Amino acid sequence: MTVSIGKVILGQTLTFTEDPSIVGAGASFDYYEKGAIAVSSEGKILWHGDAASLPSLYHSLPRRDFGTKLILPGFIDAHLHYPQYRMLAAFGKDLLDWLNRYTFVEEQNYSNVRHATLAAKTFLDELLRNGITSALAFSTIHPLALNAVFSEAAGRNMALISGKTMMDRNAPALLCDTADSSYDDSKALIRKWHGEGRLRYAISPRFAVTSSEAQLELAGALVKEHPDLLMQTHLSENRGEIDFVANDFPWSTDYTDVYDRFGLLGPRSFFAHGVHLSERELGRLSESGSAIVHCPTSNNFLGSGLFRYHHTRAKTRPVKVGIGCDIGGGTSYCMLQTLGDAYKVSQLSGDRISAFDGFYLATLGNARLLGLDNEIGSMQVGRFADLVVLDAEATPIMKARHVLSKDLHDILFALMIMGDDRAISQTFVAGNEVKPVS
Ligand code: GUN
Ligand code: ZN
Repeated sequence: MTVSIGKVILGQTLTFTEDPSIVGAGASFDYYEKGAIAVSSEGKILWHGDAASLPSLYHSLPRRDFGTKLILPGFIDAHLHYPQYRMLAAFGKDLLDWLNRYTFVEEQNYSNVRHATLAAKTFLDELLRNGITSALAFSTIHPLALNAVFSEAAGRNMALISGKTMMDRNAPALLCDTADSSYDDSKALIRKWHGEGRLRYAISPRFAVTSSEAQLELAGALVKEHPDLLMQTHLSENRGEIDFVANDFPWSTDYTDVYDRFGLLGPRSFFAHGVHLSERELGRLSESGSAIVHCPTSNNFLGSGLFRYHHTRAKTRPVKVGIGCDIGGGTSYCMLQTLGDAYKVSQLSGDRISAFDGFYLATLGNARLLGLDNEIGSMQVGRFADLVVLDAEATPIMKARHVLSKDLHDILFALMIMGDDRAISQTFVAGNEVKPVS
């Protein structure tokens, strides 16, 4: 058999194999101080292990050596908005005020193909600059906006998941579709994009505030007709939003019940935020296999509240939890900063997220939730060589702090508390170096 081979990447390598919060940190990862990853010319991982044990088959390959830098699977972001790529730091009162005052204005620009194309390029470049190689992203109502981001992602060979936003009320007329048009457009876009290269489609009703019952019904129909697709929306982020939903759906038991009645809960459903959920809601989310995406920098910025990570995952009715930056409510594209805020929020709510928990969430954890762990999220043979190279000594103070690090947890913890985009040395997508030059 001839194997066409691309390269060997060398450095400290770390990949999770299990959830550290379940099996214990020590049994949850493979780490090599001098590691090697052999990558095929198709960009898939052929071998990963101790460089000293690299099979002779791969000895003649070109090498890329990152020395003592730390190589991980590329970060995966489970919730963010590409059309909000530039509207960070908008001074709003709270979620609904911020949406009305800035977000719904900015998103109207996406009826313009030139704007959408430039935004898609800038957005994807910024993800790659931050070591994020895959994401579950919201778009806008405009099919052309989704076409723009999917075309650009396909050009970069990225595993991107997105979908046309469905919203037909409580927003400016230019940012509203109708129940029927949102169904028809979604259908056409699913046919066009789902499974094209590494792209996947996600059915995307924005949230109950901006969808009529007729639209939620049709979103549920799409979920039923396409059980292989993901579904993404927002849930229980902010008290004002929860009151709004209670008022608009007076028949509902609670916010989660609204989505439940329309068939939107399930093992492929992603609910961003989930900050203020009741026991009943957590129970239903757990029972249905739905996932919450923790968006700490956004929850902090919009004053939405403190997400209770351990409480949400409690063994009695565990709810699956992923992590995302939620740009532009979020304040940084950088997964290190997102993890840093997740740690601070966990401290404030009385339960600590370890660095192993954090880096697991951002790689294999999110990959598993998205159902993509056979493609991304680890260095198992056969996965795409989507990788991030981290520099724990990226700044003078990080360098000084690094001297004090006694073990791997210390190194990872300092990275997630002190690190930012300067700590991202390189990003690989399918074995190719793709970090844009800043
Ligand atoms: N809820 C509905 N839409 C949005 C959005 O764009 N950002 C955030 N943070 N929450 C939302
Ligand atoms: Zn969001």
